[in-house]
Amino acid sequence: MYHSIHIKKEETKKLNEKLKLSNIKLHEYSQKIEELSIARERERVAQEIHDSLGHSLMALIMHLEFAEKTFTSNPGKAQKVIIKARSIAKSSTSKLREAVNALKEERNIESLRNSINELIDKFSTLGDIKIDLIMKEDLESLNPSFKLCIYKTIRESLTNGIKHGKATLFKLKLFIEKNNLILIIKDNGVGCDKITMSNGLKGIENRIKNLGGYVDFDSYKNEGFLIKAKIPIYQKI
Ligand SMILES: Nc1ncnc2c1ncn2[C@@H]1O[C@H](COP(=O)(O)OP(=O)(O)OP(=O)(O)O)[C@@H](O)[C@H]1O
Ligand SMILES: [Mg+2]
Repeated sequence: MYHSIHIKKEETKKLNEKLKLSNIKLHEYSQKIEELSIARERERVAQEIHDSLGHSLMALIMHLEFAEKTFTSNPGKAQKVIIKARSIAKSSTSKLREAVNALKEERNIESLRNSINELIDKFSTLGDIKIDLIMKEDLESLNPSFKLCIYKTIRESLTNGIKHGKATLFKLKLFIEKNNLILIIKDNGVGCDKITMSNGLKGIENRIKNLGGYVDFDSYKNEGFLIKAKIPIYQKI
């Protein structure tokens, strides 16, 4: 009798120890998961601020530089460009709000065509930047995450083309081929010899990879910059 009680006590003690260890492990795991989600979230917000505000600020600088150059030779045009610069600065503040809101939820693209046209329109007053858009099919029925990915890819490509390549012509082509969405963006800027990816291109690549697709960046000195993306869409429309 005494012996069996003693054994039970020993067993309970061992089980308690095991339970304690499991609890500690569980706590460690949940802490790790929390840390990982915080890191991922921080990365997402940093990317959003880089892409969205970086783009608007670059457009703002372009307009102010243009106004500065044409101030005496063409004051009428300079005034127009300054007015546009103000509207870009104004919309940047709402973009900042959007980026902050991205902490809570991602922006939703209602109409892809309108959103792309908004980007194109940002540079329309400068006159010497031409952006051709060929969007063959009606892509509005694509999954929202696709539309957001396309929009962000185009936005960063325009930012880069103007900032690094001093490009004056962009050709954007979007179409569906054998259940793949193809996105081709080409600029006529100075290009570069070696592509060292930073936040912008890495962001493009990550977003496309997350949708199961892939992207190629290609450039040669003085031959512009080419971005080609292919994303399978069969189960996602
Ligand atoms: N359209 C382009 N024309 C010429 N060079 C480009 C173009 N796009 C990218 N590059 C080159 O590739 C590099 C990486 O681009 P990426 O967008 O990743 O970084 P970034 O624009 O330099 O900085 P950020 O992280 O702020 O975007 C650029 O520094 C530039 O040398
Ligand atoms: Mg960039």
